[in-house]
Amino acid sequence: MTRGYISASFIFCMDIQASQNKEILIRRQAIEQRIHELAQEISRDYVGSALLLVGVLKGAFVFLADLIRQMTIPCEVDFVRLASYGAHTESSGNVMLIKDIEGSIENKDVLIVEDILDTGLTMTKLVEIFSQRKPMSLKVCTFLDKQGRRRVPFEADYVGFTIGNSFVVGYGLDCNEQDRSLPDVYIIKQ
Ligand code: IMP
Repeated sequence: MTRGYISASFIFCMDIQASQNKEILIRRQAIEQRIHELAQEISRDYVGSALLLVGVLKGAFVFLADLIRQMTIPCEVDFVRLASYGAHTESSGNVMLIKDIEGSIENKDVLIVEDILDTGLTMTKLVEIFSQRKPMSLKVCTFLDKQGRRRVPFEADYVGFTIGNSFVVGYGLDCNEQDRSLPDVYIIKQ
């Protein structure tokens, strides 16, 4: 597996609407290049298989859309949505599936596509739920990985960029539902 590395300092997303200040972390050109590499790697790994990509709403929709258009193998697409109740800025650990995929994953090669891995609690829960449905294989591809913030051990199979502990927005990622449409990734500064 290959990884892109970006380092940054630790800042939480707080009441940013009032005093938002953003600093660019990953430019669109670097994102485009990295997604091309990831798509090639995934296409090679799954050649000849019936691949189902499961995007995690809402944050992964931009990444998933760009990823599939760079892939050279056919695939199906579906979506899930999870909710974590408790703190606003990080997973409470109480993760629930609030929108499920439409079909069965039994005997299918499934690749979960996530926007960002933070504490690891959300992906741990989703992998646990999907594993019980007997897929042929189950892997995880995340656009961003904040390895330093894990509360449970979790390793993605494909990682776009490993970043520091900062709260980031753009390229599908939001803070209070804002900034998903930004084409670059930004650190939120207070
Ligand atoms: P985890 O369960 O802590 O790994 O949380 C993963 C989810 O938290 C992601 O799918 C995002 O929705 C959200 N999240 C974590 N860090 C960030 C961030 O820096 N920006 C935007 N959303 C984030």
